[in-house]
Amino acid sequence: MARIFVTGGSGFIGAAIVESLARRGDEVAAFDIAEGPALKRLREQYRNVWFFPGELTEWPQLAEAMKAFQPDAVIHCAAVVGIVNSLASPLYTMRVNVEGSLNVLSAMRLFDVPRMINLSSEEVYGSFQSDVIDERHPCFPVQPYGISKFAVEQLARDFARANGKTVIHIRTCWVYGPGLPRPRIPKTFLDAAIEGRRLHVAGGADYRVDQIYIDDLVQGIVKALDHPKHEHDTYHITTGVALSLGEMVEIIRELVLGADIAISEGEYEVAPGIVAVRKGALDCSRAYKALGYTPRFSMRDGFAAYIAARRPS
Ligand SMILES: NC(=O)c1ccc[n+]([C@@H]2O[C@H](COP(=O)([O-])OP(=O)(O)OC[C@H]3O[C@@H](n4cnc5c(N)ncnc54)[C@H](O)[C@@H]3O)[C@@H](O)[C@H]2O)c1
Repeated sequence: MARIFVTGGSGFIGAAIVESLARRGDEVAAFDIAEGPALKRLREQYRNVWFFPGELTEWPQLAEAMKAFQPDAVIHCAAVVGIVNSLASPLYTMRVNVEGSLNVLSAMRLFDVPRMINLSSEEVYGSFQSDVIDERHPCFPVQPYGISKFAVEQLARDFARANGKTVIHIRTCWVYGPGLPRPRIPKTFLDAAIEGRRLHVAGGADYRVDQIYIDDLVQGIVKALDHPKHEHDTYHITTGVALSLGEMVEIIRELVLGADIAISEGEYEVAPGIVAVRKGALDCSRAYKALGYTPRFSMRDGFAAYIAARRPS
């Protein structure tokens, strides 16, 4: 049994991590601005889950929480998430993602916390140079979100070296599953299909991106958390496969008969006027060899699980 401090523990990925750790008997603290319904349910279900309300950029709030809980490790999920949010407020993105992460690292130094698992992103790479890339691919992030995530990685590497800490960066790609808060692919298509709404999107049918079901991401993160000694500080935790958005829509149509959803050819825009950079698959061999991580959900399995969760039998 360990004591784990999860920043952003009320969010989509954070709450799923809290649940997985609580289920196996760890003592888990969720630090977040607000307690959402998922975390509230977990606190009702498990006696080993605590909520510490606080803002990452407010040092006293974070330090008080870390001091009170005395964790063995931190899983750092709290962030301003996504390209669109970051373009809307780049300065706030930098404050929360970079200054907030520096606060977490400083609190680890002050309260002797030896280990952190940091949620990073494929956005650190910018445009992929090939269809499948590994962790050695050059990092040229192009928007505030990816730039902030890469800055955090580099600052944390420097901090880890200087302070003898272990900081592991999990680079994942598009994560989906029940509870995803943002109206983003594949959720938009899945929800439209389940609810019988028409959704035809212009552009992006050929766009390829690695998409991972939440349970697989959580098992990868927990494996990294538990691994006694790391040879690497960065791992891809995804599926290693990048289907096109057109193929994705086809799978949903097969799972939800009669779904009136479609995507046409052309450039994929993350928001009106913002063309997505080239992506592809993230090679997970390093995580497979070092951590024993293997994804269990194909896209079809993940979508079936999402649909089942939305429509309990
Ligand atoms: N969802 C994805 O597809 C995806 C992909 C790659 C990486 N990530 C990374 O995973 C992590 C979690 O993402 P998510 O999808 O769960 O996002 P989310 O928005 O659901 O969760 C983020 C949580 O952080 C909290 N938070 C934000 N700012 C805060 C602050 N200043 N102080 C305290 N708490 C704050 C929010 O309240 C929220 O509960 C992020 O670091 C994100 O960059 C997510």
